[in-house]
Amino acid sequence: MPAQPLRVVVLISGHGSNLQIFIDSQSSGRLPIDIRAVISSRADAYGLVRAKQAGIEHETLLPQDFTSRECYDHALRDRVNRYRADLVILAGFMRILTPVFLAAYEGRVINIHPSLLPALRGLHTHERALREGLREHGCSVHYVTSALDAGPVIIQARVSVQPDDCGESLQRRVQYQEYRIYPRAVLWIAEGRIELRNHTVWRQGRRQDRPLVVTADDDLESL
Ligand code: GRF
Repeated sequence: MPAQPLRVVVLISGHGSNLQIFIDSQSSGRLPIDIRAVISSRADAYGLVRAKQAGIEHETLLPQDFTSRECYDHALRDRVNRYRADLVILAGFMRILTPVFLAAYEGRVINIHPSLLPALRGLHTHERALREGLREHGCSVHYVTSALDAGPVIIQARVSVQPDDCGESLQRRVQYQEYRIYPRAVLWIAEGRIELRNHTVWRQGRRQDRPLVVTADDDLESL
């Protein structure tokens, strides 16, 4: 474990179940992070309640209070700067970040996306996976760039699509995998085992040209 916990800021827009996993992992000591703040782009995000209950600083930054995406990102950058974050974790943050924010936090912003990227970028991935008759679906943890859901992928978890799946059942199983792989990727970053160099993921000093892919049965401890 690193001597100092990784200082993180979590950005949310909604339910915050991934945020809750980070809160629980921090308080149980499983993850060496210090969640300095939670910032939401919506005032009614349930994740704000979770932050409050955990005694974590939380604030809202509403898009309607800004005239452009860039102005919003300026303000967001200034807020995140205040917490001296080593890492910015997007957990259901429903906005595309511009270079105004990303230039300041290059290589230090990660996201979880509910698909096996590059497949199914964008929204409604579970329904689209069913509509397209995919037999495999899943989720990906990736570094964030200003192109939508297109940054280098750290780890993916595969989920098989069952014949009787509906959007909700598939989402449930995918989210279960999100709760496994997202904290694991953050652990690797905290331990200095993963980093982004020249738009490429480096894992334990080696270039990782293809994302690490796990299935529901894999033991992540051994990776
Ligand atoms: C997650 O399922 C994630 O894949 C996507 O947004 C969802 C957020 O859920 N990026 P929650 O707010 O963490 O519950």
